[in-house]
Amino acid sequence: MRSAPKPKKSATHVTDQTITSVSRESRVFRPSAEFQRQANLGSLAAYKKLYAESVNSPEKFWKRQAEEQLVWRKPFKTVMKGAMPDTKWFVGGKLNVAENCIDRHLGTARENKAAIIFEGEPGDVRTMTYKQLHLHVCRLAHVFENMGLVAGDRVAIYLPMVPEAMITMLACARIGAIHTVVFGGFSPEALKDRINDCKAKLVVTADGGWRRGKIIELKPNVDKALEGTPSVQTVLVLKRTANPINMKEGRDVWWHDAWEGAPNQHKAKAFDSENPLFILYTSGSTGKPKGVLHTSAGYLLGAKLSSHYVFDLKETDRYFCSADIGWITGHSYVVYGLLSNGATVFIYEGAPNQPEPDRFWRMIDRHSLTILYTAPTAIRAFMRWGDNYVLRHRLDSLRLLGSVGEPINPEAWMWYHTMIGKKRCPIVDTWWQTETGAITITPLPGATPLKPGSATLPFFGIAAKIVDDKGKEAPRNSGGKLVITKPWPSMLRTLWGDDARFKQAYFSEFPGTYFTGDGARQDKDGYFWIVGRIDDVLNVSGHRIGTAEIESALVSHPSVAEAAAVGKPDDLKGQALVVFVTLKSGHEASEALKESLRAHVGKEIGSLAKPDQVRFAASLPKTRSGKIMRRILKDIAAGTQVKGDTSTLEDFSVVASLQQEE
Ligand code: WTA
Repeated sequence: MRSAPKPKKSATHVTDQTITSVSRESRVFRPSAEFQRQANLGSLAAYKKLYAESVNSPEKFWKRQAEEQLVWRKPFKTVMKGAMPDTKWFVGGKLNVAENCIDRHLGTARENKAAIIFEGEPGDVRTMTYKQLHLHVCRLAHVFENMGLVAGDRVAIYLPMVPEAMITMLACARIGAIHTVVFGGFSPEALKDRINDCKAKLVVTADGGWRRGKIIELKPNVDKALEGTPSVQTVLVLKRTANPINMKEGRDVWWHDAWEGAPNQHKAKAFDSENPLFILYTSGSTGKPKGVLHTSAGYLLGAKLSSHYVFDLKETDRYFCSADIGWITGHSYVVYGLLSNGATVFIYEGAPNQPEPDRFWRMIDRHSLTILYTAPTAIRAFMRWGDNYVLRHRLDSLRLLGSVGEPINPEAWMWYHTMIGKKRCPIVDTWWQTETGAITITPLPGATPLKPGSATLPFFGIAAKIVDDKGKEAPRNSGGKLVITKPWPSMLRTLWGDDARFKQAYFSEFPGTYFTGDGARQDKDGYFWIVGRIDDVLNVSGHRIGTAEIESALVSHPSVAEAAAVGKPDDLKGQALVVFVTLKSGHEASEALKESLRAHVGKEIGSLAKPDQVRFAASLPKTRSGKIMRRILKDIAAGTQVKGDTSTLEDFSVVASLQQEE
């Protein structure tokens, strides 16, 4: 048990303290009167009223929001058309997403406001106003058009976290090209698969990026990937590190060369509300990564409205989200949601412990940042590195904290609240997914009493429920599956090139209802407590990794006969990745082979997917019909007693021998 934090006047305060485990957590932190007074939404009653309207009269609610929040070139005729999952939003309307993020602020007081403040890992700083951002995006839009890109073409982005990554996304949006950002930590193999799946014509990359004092070799990775990508015609290369690289004649073009002489103004075309905006690949429970497709108006509205309410954005805020643009958080809460609100976004290129573990705190003081949005895995790492790194810094500019990507354990929540927020800053624990496009279950900081470890209540328009296996609503406090029963504007529209998989993955379990893949419960106050994935997707350090992807990478190694990947609870990463492997005859288990299997997965997918532990087995536990029983392997990996029904197990001695090993 922790000692009770003292209630403080005009600060978020504790009304009850008990134990720190999620299942029994009962502390409540109410918003301070001071925060409420200045909040974009300042009471629970106001939230409840607006929420009720949003789910009971969605057409009325979304019509008003779309008209107020977005700049339309042509007004829409119909708010929503068709049943889930094929709902179309704002039908008949036309807009340009980049114009909504940039041009709308020109000619206003925001014109000379910083849109982006960038700090590179070596410490270099660049600030770009909305006016300057406009110029950069216009020029790049011309470069793209000169390359022959047209609306609907796909552009793969493989860049470090630099302003040009945001500029590239916006230039694509401006001309109606569909971007697919691939996180720089993915391997050439993974990049190749993504490029081939969407048949990208252009790849935008850099000569490198800085991470932990070293250069990430982005361009050599692109060169390798492009040995097998017939669709790619051009590679645009940004100079970031001056790392020597090869430029392939006729294919590779330097950004600064192409940029030279491009006009500063670009007339943006208007596109239909449902024009595709981007594809973002994410892990699913089977097969290859899924190309989640988001479209224009609905996505942008979700990102913009949630940014406004969840981050309580004010004109003076200086907002820092530590996610890379390679993830959905970087799309919605670095680029689209923030810029459309005219916010100042701070981005950082490198590692949080470079040169020392206080890098974030140093940057917050240096740039007077007011909002920090980061992941529990990072918070737990900061805790481990020690309070002294935090205490060196003032952090008095901060007024709001956010968490995303995985459940935040109450200990980490309390540390974040006390050490970083100084008990003054509300914490918004935001639950959402690549597929939902925007924050889905979340506190609103001026309205919602907080409970450490709970993502609290649904955002506007989100009809979230906990159901049992038959789809019946589960009673309060009993666990079940988290579903969303009504369509919402920023939901994914399909999986690129595979509409059947889209319907199968999300809408087959409960027809007409979106199944999230997460398990959760709702407490007596209706608060949602997310337990985590209940499908074959792992969440390692806040990154989604499909067990099927890991297994297929492993079996592509010449020594492996069969493989099964499971998660094991881990203090730092949330889940650690454990793989069980059986070998083909003639191959011997050894430490060297474990290392080479880890390296092999790193090569196939990227180092973020490297198993933490490789275990060799004579055979794997299977059902009589030959399905690997992952549930049993999970218990074995965690070192706990094998629980549940084992009557379908074909050969129980397999389990006994697995338990004996290691
Ligand atoms: C998990 C990231 C608990 C969840 C935005 C979800 C969370 C998956 C939270 C989506 C949270 C995300 N509390 N779990 N606040 N946020 N998750 O697509 O399991 O990378 O299904 O989107 O992360 O991961 P994705």
